[in-house]
Amino acid sequence: MESTHNSIKIRIIKRATYGLGFYLTNDREAAVISGLVVDCEAEKSRLVLPGDRISAVNSIHVEAMTFAQVLAILEKIPAESPVVLLLKGPANCHTRLVTFFGEDGAPHTTRITEPVSSQAQTQTQAQAQTQTVKTDATVKTTIDGKSNGDIAASSTVQSQLMSIGTDLQQRLTRIEDFIQQGAMFRPVARTDSLGFLPALLEQGGTGQINGGGGGGAGVVPSKSSNNFEEDIPPGSPGLHRRTDSQSSLLRSANSRASLRRRSILTAPNSAQIIPSQTGDSTDESFSARDRRSSITTHSAHNHITLGRKSSNLEPSSIMSAGDSQRNNRSPSPTSMSANNKKYVKLKYLVDGKTTMDTLYRQSSQTLNCNPHRCTSSLLNTVRPQNSLARPKEEVLSLAKDFIRQYFESIKRYGTPAHVTRWNDVEAQINETGNYEFKEQELTFAAKSAWRNSQRCIGRIQWTKLQVFDARFINTPRTMFEALLNHIKYATNRGNIRSAITIFKQRTTPETDFRIWNQQIIRYAGYKQEDGSIIGDPASTEFTETCQKLGWKGANGRFDILPIVVSASGQDPELFDIPKEIVLQVMMKHAEYPKFAELDLKWYAVPVVSNMLFDVGGIFFPAVAFSGWYMNTEIARDYVDVSRYNLLEDIANVFNLDTSKISSLWKDQAFLELNKAILYSFQSTNTTIVDHHSASESFMKHLENEQKVRGGCPADWVWIVPPLGGSLLPVFHQEMLDYRLSPCYDYQEEAWRVHVWKKDKSKSSQAPKSKRKFGFREIARAVKFSAKLMSKALARRIRATIIFATETGKSERYAKALFDVFKYGFDVNVISADHYDLTHLEHEALLLIVTSTFGNGDPPDNGKEFAGYLHQLSSPDENFGHRSQLYTRTGRNVGSSLDRQETVNQDNFMESGGPLGNVRFAVFGLGSSSYPHFCAFAHHVDQSLRNLGGECILPIHTGDELNGQDQSFKKWATEVFRVACDDFCLGDDVNMADANAALSQGDSSWTRGRYRLRPVTGGVSDELPAALGQTHNKNVQTYRLKGRRHLQSKESTRQTILVEIEAEEDIPYHPGDHVALFAQNDTASINGLLDRLGIRPSPSPMQVEVLVEKAIGMTVTKTWKRLDRLPLLPLDMLFASILDITTPPSQMLCECLASLALDPTERERLMQLSKNTEQYENWKRFNWPTLLEVLDEFPSVEVDPTLLLVELPLLQPRFYSISSSALTNPKQIDATIGLVAYLTKGGNGPVHNGVCSSYLNKLPLNEKVFCYIRSASTFHLPSKLSMPIYLIGAGTGIAPFRSFWQHFEKMRETKSADKLEVSLIFGCRNSKLDHIYRDEIEALRKNGTIQHFYLALSREHGIPKAYVQSVIPTIAEKLFADISQRGAHIYVCGDVGMAAGVHDAIRDVCLAKGLTEIEAVKLLDHLRSSDRYHEDIFGNYNMASGY
Ligand SMILES: Cc1cc2nc3c(=O)[nH]c(=O)nc-3n(C[C@H](O)[C@H](O)[C@H](O)COP(=O)(O)OP(=O)(O)OC[C@H]3O[C@@H](n4cnc5c(N)ncnc54)[C@H](O)[C@@H]3O)c2cc1C
Ligand SMILES: Cc1cc2nc3c(=O)[nH]c(=O)nc-3n(C[C@H](O)[C@H](O)[C@H](O)COP(=O)(O)O)c2cc1C
Repeated sequence: MESTHNSIKIRIIKRATYGLGFYLTNDREAAVISGLVVDCEAEKSRLVLPGDRISAVNSIHVEAMTFAQVLAILEKIPAESPVVLLLKGPANCHTRLVTFFGEDGAPHTTRITEPVSSQAQTQTQAQAQTQTVKTDATVKTTIDGKSNGDIAASSTVQSQLMSIGTDLQQRLTRIEDFIQQGAMFRPVARTDSLGFLPALLEQGGTGQINGGGGGGAGVVPSKSSNNFEEDIPPGSPGLHRRTDSQSSLLRSANSRASLRRRSILTAPNSAQIIPSQTGDSTDESFSARDRRSSITTHSAHNHITLGRKSSNLEPSSIMSAGDSQRNNRSPSPTSMSANNKKYVKLKYLVDGKTTMDTLYRQSSQTLNCNPHRCTSSLLNTVRPQNSLARPKEEVLSLAKDFIRQYFESIKRYGTPAHVTRWNDVEAQINETGNYEFKEQELTFAAKSAWRNSQRCIGRIQWTKLQVFDARFINTPRTMFEALLNHIKYATNRGNIRSAITIFKQRTTPETDFRIWNQQIIRYAGYKQEDGSIIGDPASTEFTETCQKLGWKGANGRFDILPIVVSASGQDPELFDIPKEIVLQVMMKHAEYPKFAELDLKWYAVPVVSNMLFDVGGIFFPAVAFSGWYMNTEIARDYVDVSRYNLLEDIANVFNLDTSKISSLWKDQAFLELNKAILYSFQSTNTTIVDHHSASESFMKHLENEQKVRGGCPADWVWIVPPLGGSLLPVFHQEMLDYRLSPCYDYQEEAWRVHVWKKDKSKSSQAPKSKRKFGFREIARAVKFSAKLMSKALARRIRATIIFATETGKSERYAKALFDVFKYGFDVNVISADHYDLTHLEHEALLLIVTSTFGNGDPPDNGKEFAGYLHQLSSPDENFGHRSQLYTRTGRNVGSSLDRQETVNQDNFMESGGPLGNVRFAVFGLGSSSYPHFCAFAHHVDQSLRNLGGECILPIHTGDELNGQDQSFKKWATEVFRVACDDFCLGDDVNMADANAALSQGDSSWTRGRYRLRPVTGGVSDELPAALGQTHNKNVQTYRLKGRRHLQSKESTRQTILVEIEAEEDIPYHPGDHVALFAQNDTASINGLLDRLGIRPSPSPMQVEVLVEKAIGMTVTKTWKRLDRLPLLPLDMLFASILDITTPPSQMLCECLASLALDPTERERLMQLSKNTEQYENWKRFNWPTLLEVLDEFPSVEVDPTLLLVELPLLQPRFYSISSSALTNPKQIDATIGLVAYLTKGGNGPVHNGVCSSYLNKLPLNEKVFCYIRSASTFHLPSKLSMPIYLIGAGTGIAPFRSFWQHFEKMRETKSADKLEVSLIFGCRNSKLDHIYRDEIEALRKNGTIQHFYLALSREHGIPKAYVQSVIPTIAEKLFADISQRGAHIYVCGDVGMAAGVHDAIRDVCLAKGLTEIEAVKLLDHLRSSDRYHEDIFGNYNMASGY
């Protein structure tokens, strides 16, 4: 017999290369793992063995599927996504996971697979900390303990790499061993293998990760079965323990289970406060007494009242009244001192695993239980204080605790921001007894309240909650409209989404806003004279209230009740819900068509609306929240005696024998009903969760919560569904019930506490006539007002556009996107480096526009954002290194993204992840001439997905070389449409207007919108300040000290050495760049001014934009300065600030077209702006400057403001610094290739590079404006004790000059003894182009450069050679240096050269016997461990001289 404990659930990452890292074989249609790919995810995890059978993939059970289907599922999973696999170990084995503490105190999880008989033995071995994976005779594979241990221990790629030299040979040998054993495979190039990383482990067996730093090694045995209050080992959150032997566990599980079976006759579970469990939270007719009498064994818990321990870290200013109040709370009999380290042990009776809840100590609220009785099975016990105003002291205390929680959540606890916010809140409370939440705080609170809801089984989704902030709403009508919007959003055509709408908070209970409905959508219950009820008996009281307010129902079984709302304590108003927005599901049974004759239906979205949201001392009495249904909830609504009471009718459909109870007809009918409900929802694509999945997901949630916060409040009585009982894991899980804040709580029904302002009896007649509209009128009116309202509400949905840019295009696109999105959203556009990263988790809609720079890197201002994303995904990993993190995903995501539809579909089993509620879309700018096209954008996209974000539109990219503008426009139009759709604004937004904004947005130029004015006072900005302000950089003023030509005059190319001097030391490292600001050449500026008809004038000018503002009915127009440009004379703006040489973009062509007087020219310009192919051909052939375009289209009447608004900024140019601060700290040198080229296929005018020609002509001693840019990825290692290879061609030698100057100085101080430098330099001709020849000669002589290789591409009489041609000639040494001596490689030049060098080194590895994949991996390792450095100049062969 196969052991019941032969499954494990593991989570690993599917990599782009070799996927999950194993091979599958078809074993009688089962997918069985036949081998592992060495050093790939599965092998590295040490949790997968050949012989394992795949039972489930991401919760999809695959055992019943064909092999091909399983393969298809696995293949569909995108690269770099986590995959949860349920694996069945080999037959007759016992498989489980065990976690040990290593000597470092960190948990290590390993797998134990053993024949059933040797289980006890392994248990002992496990405790003795074995890390060997045991297998039975059928699975002979033994993963080498040592080498795997090594791999695990050196989990960072860096440390692996340090040992790669010696390790490589060992690994190769090991691979051979595995091949001989037939278990491991060398990878071959295929994409359908599947792969992993043990990021998070789920338990199918017994072991568990110990999240605490317990320090001790081995499994911690359970001391006793007493599950209460033991001292906690240090580092408490998420403690888990394993208990003693399996057999005793099973015994205890059985006895406990049977105890439950005996004692729990009805598993009560009607009104969960989150609607996956919603039912009848106010259903009084379901007798609490019944429940009490039926449940005798549950909840022997003592509930604990305790003030939260105050942290030592708390700044004194935020440690005031609140704390003393909190800590002075009188303890209950079971309370403990704040410093008491206590936990409650909770057992999972299936395997005896125990966890320790420490979170309960944060509960500061009492339950109604006391040491003598447990009240947890009582229904909605309303706390009297909920209907009262809170005393100020209590508000202070609770507010402070909440503000702490919020700032802890955004990792800003104790920061000045925290102190300031608390001071502000405290002041508000002291003044008014109340305070206002910031939107982010409210969002956090709403999610936390769900997370804290003890009775909700669906909490795994707690981060995925859309919060509609409706605090601005004042009237019943607008409340109603907001609720309609909620229904529309949540329903989402059946793909239901969780949401909450929050109305105004309580100021005094007398002026409360209330929603009178228990659920927004519910069926009426009409009491008949004979006492019977038509419809839903749970609604009779509310139905009567509605009727008194003038509502007339149709006396049907399923009449949707109206919405009744009251604002500011006034009498309520009543509104019908338009039928078309309520999704209802007709009930059918898959096998019994007769079931449909029962004519049952149910609404799809349960929106609980009568609870009180209690947060930070403030009550919100009007909130509506919704999730989705679990089948048993609806089933109970149909069959409970106190509800529709249909059990017998249902049994009759199935011809069940209802004559005797022992026929179990009730159970069977209930089961069939549940099947019908699931079938009906699923077959209409309406979200529903079955109780098994819900139960499993809750177990997962418990596990998550245990890790994250050391426990999870849970009310067993409510969590265990009313069907399935002991078949569900939750049944066997001990739970601890306590109240945390924020929370949703019960309150008295509105109609019971409302103080009527008008005579209630009159109000039942008077307003009726007013509201007697025909259905059509109502529908029309509602549609109209809902339209207006959803606009207003939508504008409350925040959309944040974040851009990261190096040369400004992404920013321009982001602003254009802003112009579109403001038609539907409350939109904000911000540069990535100014964005407050802690807001990320609270965004509703995030749009990212980013370019890629370097060689697959983020632009400078996107680096911090990238780091934050990385930190969020891998909090424990150091994010010191760079590009390969981006390129590794970037290079590969392209293909997998096309297949991404399967990702991020709502999966009940998956927790949201930190960005669970964030919807996002990414647009990437790049150039396809780079190997890592748009790599950073891809990386951001993938990271957001991995963090749980919901991608609303697959990533789009814009290729600089192919219609970037058009791609952007297409994406912008599409993403706006999808976003509107997603937030249900489809009908309410004028798409045409929004799309037109792409061309004529507020920030883009249109005739008459801008004007040019002399600056009042006539004072110009200083140029360095102007540059600094424009580029947001700290611009320095240095002087040009010297300049000399480095190449022979006879050469067709020229390179100059420029020496720049400062008055003080310049802070930089070898390898850094200097960014130099140039000026456009005078002839071009004058030509342009002539064309514009402008005479140069020394007066500074400013551009002004016409801004319209509506105040009431009046629209005012004012001119405002456009702060894009500094205050400078026009000729200076065209000289130093604006780029007048880069060919105009398609967007600018469109503007020019609108100004062309000649129809043919207009037509041509329009074509260029719309037809990307024509545009690209035209651009490539002419490479025209602005002036040349204006010459080509002479009829264009250019308005200077158009150019001032639309031209891109003249960017500074980067140059690798060619000097060392050790040689001269006040000077920087640059090696600059002079750019000059002919256009029109060699027949057009010569174009000179702006910056290079400017520096070539600039008189000595003139000012130079610049700043230093750190190139941390191109720095030298801190210790110079290894071989260093410097590989560059032409001006690519520039940074190496700073290196060798540095080496020379270091050698003088004997700090680089073991350094061995090899310089590989390429140029065309040794006599004409060999720059720095003399210096290199001298360095060779003095031993600074040990090896020098010259590659000449145009040397007379010898074959062409490039730097990459040198590599094979030094293969032996290079490979040994890389693999054994920790060599560093530096490559500098253009993209093509860098790619060539990379490939040449890879070829060396292949020649040395590595497989293709091993060679690539080796190079990847070198990169990620900062031993392979690239400095890429650009995508063209710029004066590189070879
Ligand atoms: C990180 C980094 C470091 C760098 N370090 C150095 C360095 O040390 N030394 C160095 O010389 N340069 C270096 N560069 C390049 C440098 O920044 C400038 O790009 C280069 O000097 C040209 O600038 P420019 O203003 O003279 O030319 P631009 O006016 O910018 O003209 C160059 C542009 O002209 C176009 N162009 C060029 N040739 C042709 C052609 N044949 N046909 C059509 N169009 C063409 C291309 O669009 C190109 O972008 C580096 C670049 C980067 C990004
Ligand atoms: C030095 C340099 C490096 C670049 N590296 C890449 C790259 O690795 N991948 C890519 O797709 N594009 C690369 N590009 C192209 C830019 O991403 C492209 O020009 C983009 O339009 C710039 O947008 P921005 O102005 O918002 O920065 C590079 C451009 C330069 C000048």
